[in-house]
Amino acid sequence: MMGLFDMLAGMLKVRKEQINILVIGLNNSGKSTIVNHFKDPEERSQVTLPTVGFNVEKFQNQGIAFTAFDMSGAGRYRNLWEHHFKSCQGIIFVIDSSDRMRLVVVKDELDILIKHPDIQNRRIPILFFANKIDCPDSLSSVKIAAALGLEKLKDKPWHISSSNALSGEGLQDGIQWLVQQIREMIASSTKK
Ligand code: GTP
Ligand code: MG
Repeated sequence: MMGLFDMLAGMLKVRKEQINILVIGLNNSGKSTIVNHFKDPEERSQVTLPTVGFNVEKFQNQGIAFTAFDMSGAGRYRNLWEHHFKSCQGIIFVIDSSDRMRLVVVKDELDILIKHPDIQNRRIPILFFANKIDCPDSLSSVKIAAALGLEKLKDKPWHISSSNALSGEGLQDGIQWLVQQIREMIASSTKK
């Protein structure tokens, strides 16, 4: 009887893939605004405040159940990021395209990330949002990619999307790329 029950349970199971993603980037880059956009309209918060520590947010996109660790980007909290490196299967790295002054700080944080022992040898997909493209003086995603030296990032799949998190422009394009990467990861891990 148990065998039959197990078989039926297996047939009925429409298991949603559950994926942990880490959302990082400097403070004020728009991380929480981006995560908020992906949530159901009725679950969205109306006000965005600087994140304290981090928040855990859940949303669905194209059949993937995401658990997003929306980290604070403030200097005093950036040491919290690494605690989540091991358990995340994808990274969203948000950049304020209009904050030219801090692009060097962005590069420093990115270098720390990709050299970290929990990240270094993994083919973890990294989605960059060149956010706030609506701001005057914002840099193009091509210029940001060059400033961050992304062309040297060869051992991980990465993609940069320009976005305006206030209007939502560019956000779905970006997450679509990430979902595609995650599906490929799942497909290659179940093949073995
Ligand atoms: P921390 O939690 O402090 O690390 O910041 P964060 O990266 O989560 O930034 P948050 O989402 O709180 O956004 C910071 C400010 O930028 C808020 O006032 C947002 O409304 C604004 N903002 C976010 N995205 C955009 C954008 O694409 N364009 C413009 N003009 N403003 C944006
Ligand atoms: Mg935030």
